Amino acid sequence: MPRLEPAQTISGRRVWLRLLRPEDRDRLRAILAEPEVARWWAPNGLDAAVDELFGEEEGVVYAIELDGGVIGAIEYDEENERDYRHAGIDLFVATDYQGRGLGRDAVASMARHLFEVRGHHRVVIDPAVANERAIRAYERVGFRRVGVMRSYERGPDGRWHDGLLLDMLRGELTDESPR
Ligand SMILES: CC(C)(COP(=O)(O)OP(=O)(O)OC[C@H]1O[C@@H](n2cnc3c(N)ncnc32)[C@H](O)[C@@H]1OP(=O)(O)O)[C@@H](O)C(=O)NCCC(=O)NCCS
Repeated sequence: MPRLEPAQTISGRRVWLRLLRPEDRDRLRAILAEPEVARWWAPNGLDAAVDELFGEEEGVVYAIELDGGVIGAIEYDEENERDYRHAGIDLFVATDYQGRGLGRDAVASMARHLFEVRGHHRVVIDPAVANERAIRAYERVGFRRVGVMRSYERGPDGRWHDGLLLDMLRGELTDESPR
């Protein structure tokens, strides 16, 4: 069966997701340099984080736009092995735009797309256990805690930190998520 090509755009309630373009590099580099973003997203430094984002081979990356400006990025990757099929999501939002429900809007829009367009029945996300704001945002859209993955990821401090696996099944997206 032919693979479904990624959508060019995905609309949220307030944000707009569109496929990453090379010209987004400077803006996203500046966002990734912000301490409140780098802390959770750039364990190997800024250059590595930018290169990974723009050289993503496994996943598909979208810029998160608000009123025509780029405020972050969100990506999905898919496990397409027939009996284990699911998708994972990861994202970051610029510091000035955090805590305003925009991350929730972006993640809910992406999850809806993965369920309704890409046909997934299960979506996962895996923030650091210490990333309480991310966990709160994800639980608000319907993700549920599966469990702690011990010493899951190495942080900018060079030490291994616990991650929290959350998952969401089709039909569990909450009412407040975008339509
Ligand atoms: C994680 C992130 C994507 C969430 O997006 P956001 O737009 O900031 O999140 P929202 O505003 O939608 O929701 C955040 C929720 O956490 C709450 N919150 C904020 N700071 C918090 C804290 N320190 N502890 C617990 N909850 C907190 C907010 O009140 C809000 O909950 P509410 O809507 O019930 O009031 C964004 O903060 C971000 O990019 N952070 C830096 C990079 C990162 O951590 N990426 C995630 C990697 S998995």
